[in-house]
Amino acid sequence: MTRRSCGALRAADAETVAELNGWVHRRRDHGGLIFVDLRDRDGLTQIVFDPQHTAFSQAEHLRNEDVLRAVGRVRKRPPGTENPKLATGEVEVEVQELEILNRSQVPPFQINVEENADENLRLEYRYLDLRRTRMQRNLTIRHRIIKAMRDFFDERDFLEIETPLLIKRTPEGARDYLVPSRLYPGSCYALPQSPQMLKQLLMIAGFGRYMQIARCLRDEDQRADRQLEFTQLDVEMSFCTQDEVLDLMESCMRFVWKRVLDVEIPPFARLTFAEAVERYGSDKPDLRFGLELAASSDVFAGSEFLVFKSVIENGGEIVALRYPGGAALSRREFDALTEEAKLLGAKGMVWIALGEDGIKSSAQRFIEQPHADELARRTQAQRGDAILLFADARDAAYAVAGKMRVEVGRRAGLRRDDAYAFCFITDFPYLEIDPETGKPMPAHHPFTSPAPGEWDLIETDPVRMRAQQYDMVLNGYEIGSGSIRIHKPELQRRIFEMLGMTPEQVEAQFGFFVRALDYGAPPHGGMALGVDRIAMVACAEENIREVIAFPKNQVARDVMMDAPSPAPEKALRELHIQQIPSKPKN
Ligand code: AMO
Repeated sequence: MTRRSCGALRAADAETVAELNGWVHRRRDHGGLIFVDLRDRDGLTQIVFDPQHTAFSQAEHLRNEDVLRAVGRVRKRPPGTENPKLATGEVEVEVQELEILNRSQVPPFQINVEENADENLRLEYRYLDLRRTRMQRNLTIRHRIIKAMRDFFDERDFLEIETPLLIKRTPEGARDYLVPSRLYPGSCYALPQSPQMLKQLLMIAGFGRYMQIARCLRDEDQRADRQLEFTQLDVEMSFCTQDEVLDLMESCMRFVWKRVLDVEIPPFARLTFAEAVERYGSDKPDLRFGLELAASSDVFAGSEFLVFKSVIENGGEIVALRYPGGAALSRREFDALTEEAKLLGAKGMVWIALGEDGIKSSAQRFIEQPHADELARRTQAQRGDAILLFADARDAAYAVAGKMRVEVGRRAGLRRDDAYAFCFITDFPYLEIDPETGKPMPAHHPFTSPAPGEWDLIETDPVRMRAQQYDMVLNGYEIGSGSIRIHKPELQRRIFEMLGMTPEQVEAQFGFFVRALDYGAPPHGGMALGVDRIAMVACAEENIREVIAFPKNQVARDVMMDAPSPAPEKALRELHIQQIPSKPKN
């Protein structure tokens, strides 16, 4: 007798005796015989109870999710009763001995069907949710992705080095999680938003090639592609060029996709930030489809249409987007689309339908045939399509046109779910304006090197300065980010100064780091990929929580453990923390 998994038995095993352990997936009573599908991670096997065996009476009381050990003879299923959908579908086990290892309560949702149970209920009973085929598959794919990443870098002589979780602030633009110190009243450790400074210190320490599957923590609002705890494939290397980092990370992802999904990925597209915005209205374009935007202010030079006129006079842009098949929309549907554009930030939207019997438009009086012809030429629109126009300040017009491009791509069925469009975006602007403070801050982080030859813009025109920063994008998701770093201490100090930090502030926050640069820091650069987002796309999921074993919910709670939860008075006292009663909300 051998112990087998529930996915292992085949016709060739017939007439052997097997032991199976697993959960009752489903039980059926059939004319005197009882059939149970027994389940474990590996699959399902049909086990059969015959009234002649003593196990039969035990089987009469079995319920879904009871845990069993069953021993019996493997036999071929009678002809015509095979189940081609199951790997074990040619055989069944005739149970001679049954041990009920544990009973189960009735689960709060069904495990053996893919029903859409309420997500909070799924998360509260996550251990049951994880028994479902889809979740077992997702976590298996996630495991394989991480294993492939480790193998890839191991073969290339990278060392995986762990970095601490209790550290000092690393700025990545989010709020920190703080851990109050018991030994140092009033002081806190910060949990890492990423191992950024530590991996740079490993380069200064001479390790040359580092990688880590690293846990990162950021106190930011939750979204479908964000968790407060997430995992990065973190990479850093010394004496490298930007292209070497991009080539390496591209090879890694192509290796992972081949190994895990058996999909060949063609060489990645590489676009500059400026190109990405002009062609797709986004620095994370979904390249599974074309639909390129077209700048069109010049088409309307001299137009009497007030909206266009004022945008052109103020140096804004009119951006055109093709809607394949859009001419079939009714006025009411165009109105609804316009409302959708407004929700995405548009001031308004002009539509032009290129119908069989001429053009129709929401700005009929101002749109003439030559306008439509020129717009059609630029957007490659044909008769039967529509053209949507967004007029606004340049960045705003592109941003909303980019969001509508994704929506139109979805509506027109252009986004194939089984396609994978990877690309790199390069040449980002160094600074962006912080929406909260209105102050310039690094678009990536302050350890990023400005573009070669652009250092002097720090003094003259910092907003024009570009960074040696790059992002990896997959199907419209930012799945990775990195940069060539500053390795000279005086240049690092200049960046902190540009960001408005006094030398005292630099010393207090980053003194240890700038000092390390003083001791022969090598040129270096690297990147971090978001493992959860990558797994999400590989598993064809639209929510990052579906590929994380125990995620927080949409409002950052662990509803299974019930965390966060109030700490005992004594623990708070030891941490020198006094509660300030929160003000009641009016
Ligand atoms: P960055 O902050 O861009 O760069 O993060 C790198 C990648 O990590 C993923 N990511 C997230 N995934 C899930 N939930 C989140 N809250 C979350 N935040 C980020 C994204 C992102 O592209 N230290 C730098 C990297 C470097 O310069 O080497 C960094 O962390 O996929």
